[in-house]
Amino acid sequence: MQDRLHSRTVAEHYNALEEKGLRQRNQSRIVYMRNFNNWIKSMLINEYIGKVKQTKNHGASLRVLDMCCGKGGDLLKWKKANITHLICADIAEVSLEQCQQRYNDMTSRSSNDRGFAPIYTAEFITADCTKVRLREKYKDPSMQLDFVSCQFAFHYSFESLSQAECMLRNASETLRPGGFFVGTIPDAYDLVSRWQKCDDNKFGNDVYSIDFLCEDKERPPLFGAKYNFHLEGVVDCPEFLVHLPTLRKLALKNGLELVAFERFDTFYERFKDEGRSLLGNMQALETYPPFHEVPLLGNSEQDYQHAVQYMQNLPDHRKIGTLSQSEWDVTSLYAVFAFRKMKTVWNSEGKAEYVA
Ligand SMILES: C[S@@+](CC[C@H](N)C(=O)[O-])C[C@H]1O[C@@H](n2cnc3c(N)ncnc32)[C@H](O)[C@@H]1O
Repeated sequence: MQDRLHSRTVAEHYNALEEKGLRQRNQSRIVYMRNFNNWIKSMLINEYIGKVKQTKNHGASLRVLDMCCGKGGDLLKWKKANITHLICADIAEVSLEQCQQRYNDMTSRSSNDRGFAPIYTAEFITADCTKVRLREKYKDPSMQLDFVSCQFAFHYSFESLSQAECMLRNASETLRPGGFFVGTIPDAYDLVSRWQKCDDNKFGNDVYSIDFLCEDKERPPLFGAKYNFHLEGVVDCPEFLVHLPTLRKLALKNGLELVAFERFDTFYERFKDEGRSLLGNMQALETYPPFHEVPLLGNSEQDYQHAVQYMQNLPDHRKIGTLSQSEWDVTSLYAVFAFRKMKTVWNSEGKAEYVA
């Protein structure tokens, strides 16, 4: 009963989120952080799609599963990555309808383009990815995928062992050896360390708050370590800590080998030069000091001290790109992960074993 309630709460929350136009999104207090998170996803997808492409012939098919795709925030990224087929799955039926509508709009725009380059084909599945075997819902259940992505959502599966196992099976069972499963989740070590530093169970700032609903700060449970996450105008949902060693073990049982787990701050440092023009195009950082006509979104007294200090050491910099401290406190909680699918061999008892 409890399980069913959580998934429903999450689905209802995401379904109820209004589809905001670009103008309204641009007025949000956390617009730069949202753009920055989008930039991280773009760079992550580019990095690992690039690795997949190295193993394929030019023009070969490239099939992707976007698990917990939401309203389709990554549809354009898949277009840029030149994939051939996309499977979108999400528990929130209204979000998935919006995703399908966005895809339809993209295909009709692209067929109007001169020099028409056909966009990938797509299918849409409404399902709880922590409880339903997705393969059985594919148009072709024998389809082999090259890439699976699960952005800002895998942590919902750590409500229970069986849900985490189901989600990992969905990520792995149709992925071909050498394919990648990538995503973004909160870093549980950082969450717990912030929790331990506060007197009660709640911490945050003017844009986010986290309220732990389990008791033991020293030894939270491996599954069902629940907290309510509130993020200004976007998220207000129960979530669960993902214990990395446990995730790693469960993934290995499904033939997925962890090849990267990197916090957003270090990922940014690694990619900021390569991704500089995209950072600008996506407006992923706020200009400091601001141009006259553009007011700062954060509190000008408190939120930019790090930028002031940074600029003191670089006297010839007149302006830099940054995030307000409040936004940085949220985004720096997250990490990217990547798993590589191993080769399957069948042992003498007819059971699957995996080799690197
Ligand atoms: C923060 S949103 C991220 C959406 C999208 N991946 C993105 O990056 O824009 C989380 C998404 O996970 C979906 N979700 C949460 N629990 C789920 C579950 N058990 N099965 C499928 N989707 C789920 C929600 O409906 C929501 O669309």
